[in-house]
Amino acid sequence: MTAPSSATDLLPQRPRTEQLCHRPILRDSWYAVAGSLDVGDAPVGAMLLGQRIVLYRTATGVIAAPDRCPHREAPLSKGTVEDGCLVCPYHGWNFGDGGRCVRVPSSAEHVPPPPKAHLQTFRCEERYGLVWVCLGTPTRDIPRIAHEDDRTFRRINTPVEVWRTSATRMADNFLDITHFPWVHTGTFGRRQDTLVPKVELEDLDDGWYGYCYEVRANNDSLGSLASGQTGSVVERAMSSGFHLPFDVRSTIRYASGLEHILLLLSTPIDDVTSYFTFVVWRNDDFSVSAQDIIRFDLAIGAEDKRMLEMLDGVLPLDQTSLVSVQADKCSVEWRRRLAEHVGAAPTSA
Ligand code: FES
Ligand SMILES: [Fe+2]
Repeated sequence: MTAPSSATDLLPQRPRTEQLCHRPILRDSWYAVAGSLDVGDAPVGAMLLGQRIVLYRTATGVIAAPDRCPHREAPLSKGTVEDGCLVCPYHGWNFGDGGRCVRVPSSAEHVPPPPKAHLQTFRCEERYGLVWVCLGTPTRDIPRIAHEDDRTFRRINTPVEVWRTSATRMADNFLDITHFPWVHTGTFGRRQDTLVPKVELEDLDDGWYGYCYEVRANNDSLGSLASGQTGSVVERAMSSGFHLPFDVRSTIRYASGLEHILLLLSTPIDDVTSYFTFVVWRNDDFSVSAQDIIRFDLAIGAEDKRMLEMLDGVLPLDQTSLVSVQADKCSVEWRRRLAEHVGAAPTSA
C-alpha cells in the first residue's frame, strides 16, 4: 500500500455535498477509506461524505475521528503518533484508545482533561486489508466475501486512489459490461464482441444481487498472467452484483478452474470525488507474484478512470433523464434501489 499522504493531498478543499452526500442515510453505511497498511506510525487524513476525518492506530486498532482538535480546531492529521497516542500539532494534547484525551501538556499531571476534550469517534473496522468507517449508525453490514475465509484463495490488495468522479458513476460503470469493447481496448476488450445477451437479474450468493454472463476476452501477455490461459482469446464465465450503496463484486471463472473475485469499492469523498480501491481473491498458483497478477487489473482500472473523469457531476438517480437499453438492466435496477435507499424523489437528480 503506498503514499497515503498523496491521497490526502488530493482531497477537495471545498467538498461538494449538496446533490448526494448530504443525504443522511448514506452516513449509515460502511465505506473503505484507507488501506490497513496506510495507517501505520503516523496519522492519516481522509474525507468521507464531505467530512474530514483523521485515522490513527493504537494498540487495539484504528481510531477514526473528526480531523479537528476539540481545543482550537487544529487538523489532527498533521500531528504525530507517539506511544500509541495521537498528538495534536498545535498544543500537543494526546488522544489515545477510543479517542480519549489522556494528556494536556499545559495542565498539571493531577488535573484531568476536560470531559469535552475527548474525541467523538466514528465506528471503524478493519476488514479485507482495508479500514472501513461508518459516520452514523450502521444499518447495513460491510459486504461479505466468503473467499476471505477460504485458504485455497489468496487476497491481494491494491492502493486506495482518488478519482475525480462521483461514486454513483463508478458503481454504474462497474456493473456495466457494454463498455468493455470500447473502454478496455488496451486490455481485454474485443471490438467485435459488442452484443450482450439478455440480462437476467437474480440473487447471487452472500447477499449480492446481479447477473451472470459469458465474455470472450482478449488474452495478450499481460492478460495471460491474470487468466492463467495461453490462447489469444479466453472465455470467462462472469457475474456482476451490487451491495448498496456503491459496492460491486465481479467474479470470473475460467475453464481451468481458476476463480478470480474482485471487490470494487467506490467511496464518496464528496459528490464528485471518490476513493477507489479493489481487492482480489484468487485460487491460482500462489508462486506467481501478486504484482504481476494485479498489473492487468490496475491497467483495466486506469481505463475506467480515464473514461469516468470525462463525465460531469453525479449520475442522475431518476429513471427519466437517462436513456437505457436491455443491456443496462443491472445498473438501472441498482440505480432504482439506490434512489429508494437514499430517499431521492423519483424525478430529482
Ligand atoms: S488545537 Fe489541538 S491541542 Fe490545541
Ligand atoms: Fe470497466
